Amino acid sequence: MAASPAERMSRRYSRRTVEVRDPHAELLADFRAGMLEAPRSLPPKYFYDARGSALFDAICDTPEYYPTRLEASLLERNAAAIIEAAGADTLVELGSGTSRKTEYLLAPLERAAGEESLYVANDVCPEILDEAGERLLERFPGLTIHALAGDYGAALEALRADGAAGQDGARLFTFLGSSLGNFEDPEAIELLRAIRRTMGSDDHLLLGLDRVKPVDVLEAAYDDAAGVTAAFNLNLLSVLNRELGADFDERGFRHRAPFNHEESRIEMHLVAQVSQKVRVEAFATTLELEAGEVIRTEISRKFDAKMIDRLLSASGLRREREWLAGDGWYSLLMLRPDPAG
Ligand code: SAH
Ligand code: AVI
Repeated sequence: MAASPAERMSRRYSRRTVEVRDPHAELLADFRAGMLEAPRSLPPKYFYDARGSALFDAICDTPEYYPTRLEASLLERNAAAIIEAAGADTLVELGSGTSRKTEYLLAPLERAAGEESLYVANDVCPEILDEAGERLLERFPGLTIHALAGDYGAALEALRADGAAGQDGARLFTFLGSSLGNFEDPEAIELLRAIRRTMGSDDHLLLGLDRVKPVDVLEAAYDDAAGVTAAFNLNLLSVLNRELGADFDERGFRHRAPFNHEESRIEMHLVAQVSQKVRVEAFATTLELEAGEVIRTEISRKFDAKMIDRLLSASGLRREREWLAGDGWYSLLMLRPDPAG
């Protein structure tokens, strides 16, 4: 008997959890390391519960947030050439989100590899993986999707553990949206090296990196007039309230996103508007924040050519091609493992 459409869909979409560490234990450790005393900060991955992911998607549609449009335009123009150069039947994406821009790459991938085409999508947010999976199955009837829910490092480890069993063609890894810019150098290099360790000698990495540009453009992109980025930043407090039994009051904080020239990065802050006490049940403690105190919730680095060269050589990756958008405002790099790196 022929498979029903639903059965065919479920054969073509699967999702598994790849966390190495219990995510709750990790949040506890990160909160302990960054939040118990000033200066306070948290890693950015906790933004992305289902609401945070939806808010990020809405940020991408604001007129001020140029990175998505610039990267999309580069992908739209060059996707066919990228897939041909990669000779890939498999696309592996870290931090895939809605996979909206990825569709530009999946179209030529499916044209070239047909029923052999495979999309391995990784994200910390399982809801966004399922939502994107459903949409992509409709649009790409030949595509199989393996979703890996969990941290970048855990997804790469799972891919290494799986090995290249049953795989003939090369893989194109993608890390888009300048998500690498959310990490300081040591972590960024560790992540690129982990990607390189996971790649075979025939694989490529397509890396999107945001570039330095006028400060007014940068600051507007992270503080849009409609307040979507502010809502995204403040949503972190609801995540902490839910996950840690805390009682942060969003109304006591303001979103700020100044450009730090010395470090060449936007910093997202939540600034306490008044002095306040915040109970955190998971730590059986009460935080005391002074008026004006800052919680740094994200860094978003803006790269120049030198910074990119340093990152690549420290990570054992070699540039094969680079496409620039507009006035050098955004870079898309096609990379390969450097045999000498
Ligand atoms: N690549 C998409 C989405 C970027 S937003 C784009 O270019 O538009 C960053 C995405 O990475 C979100 O979907 C978020 O859930 C995911 N993410 C953030 N930190 C992560 C981590 N440490 N491991 C895996 N996914 C992560
Ligand atoms: C996911 N990441 C690359 C985005 C960025 O631009 O740093 C997250 C973001 N934060 C605020 N706006 C967008």
